[in-house]
Amino acid sequence: MLSAAPRQSESGARTLLKAEALEKRFGGITALADYSVNMGRGELLGLIGPNGAGKTTVFNLLSGVFKPSAGRILLGDRDITAARPDRRAALGIARTFQNIRLFAEMSVIDNIRVAFHMHRGRGLWPTLVHTPAFRRAEREMAERAAEFLELLGLQDVRRERAGNLPYGLQRRTEIARALAADPQLILLDEPAAGMNPNETDELIAVIERIHHRYGLAVFLVEHDMKVVMASCDRIQVLDRGRVLCEGRPADIRKDPRVIEAYLGTPRKGSRAGS
Ligand SMILES: Nc1ncnc2c1ncn2[C@@H]1O[C@H](COP(=O)(O)OP(=O)(O)OP(=O)(O)O)[C@@H](O)[C@H]1O
Ligand SMILES: [Mg+2]
Repeated sequence: MLSAAPRQSESGARTLLKAEALEKRFGGITALADYSVNMGRGELLGLIGPNGAGKTTVFNLLSGVFKPSAGRILLGDRDITAARPDRRAALGIARTFQNIRLFAEMSVIDNIRVAFHMHRGRGLWPTLVHTPAFRRAEREMAERAAEFLELLGLQDVRRERAGNLPYGLQRRTEIARALAADPQLILLDEPAAGMNPNETDELIAVIERIHHRYGLAVFLVEHDMKVVMASCDRIQVLDRGRVLCEGRPADIRKDPRVIEAYLGTPRKGSRAGS
């Protein structure tokens, strides 16, 4: 379970996730080539690059939505290259999607409850007979849900229909759902897309809060430089399916290759990816 003690203090900079020479081809198109990454426990890593650079493809490979055409992925010492998405989620990799995936008709709190149930995947029997263990688990879940609502500033809207909420609150509900899966690593795909400056500032605070409270590793794809620069310890830059460079935010910001490839490219607006 997510614990309040930051994991990074226990485990130092030990590697959590490692991807080696990943490649993804779609027919004749190479979306990603020779992609490698090394993430420490509790690290905040950013992934930036122009539209179509391959950022969402990286997340789809790490979360198991796509199988790589080549390369391998390790979580700790475990090779998860062939593991299905649900297995990776159970092992501690959670994600949000570039195009929001909430149950729009359901309330915020029910969206979070469903995520708990999906993660714990219990059979029908304990639910029907309401065993003590079941009641205990239900109570624990309610407490966790309340904790996430508070952490993400969602208490006041917990009974609202998720689909009716402003964008920023929907994004935060998605993050709460991801937390319900009890992750070690959370992949956030453009969480600030479509947000106003106020919502963006709140998002930066939310990312810091979940990182500090649980010592979670966060891998952040984001076009909004303010969010990336404020949140990340280290940034990787992708361009046309390849890693262009990697470094601290201050160095990335002034790297001429980045300015040319990314900052120099007008933003066309976020395409709906998966
Ligand atoms: N399922 C797919 N089938 C075919 N091609 C795909 C698929 N997914 C991604 N691609 C292609 O792979 C390349 C990288 O796409 P990806 O969505 O990873 O880019 P991105 O960096 O996330 O872009 P954006 O900033 O617009 O979200 C693009 O050329 C895209 O068209
Ligand atoms: Mg994308």
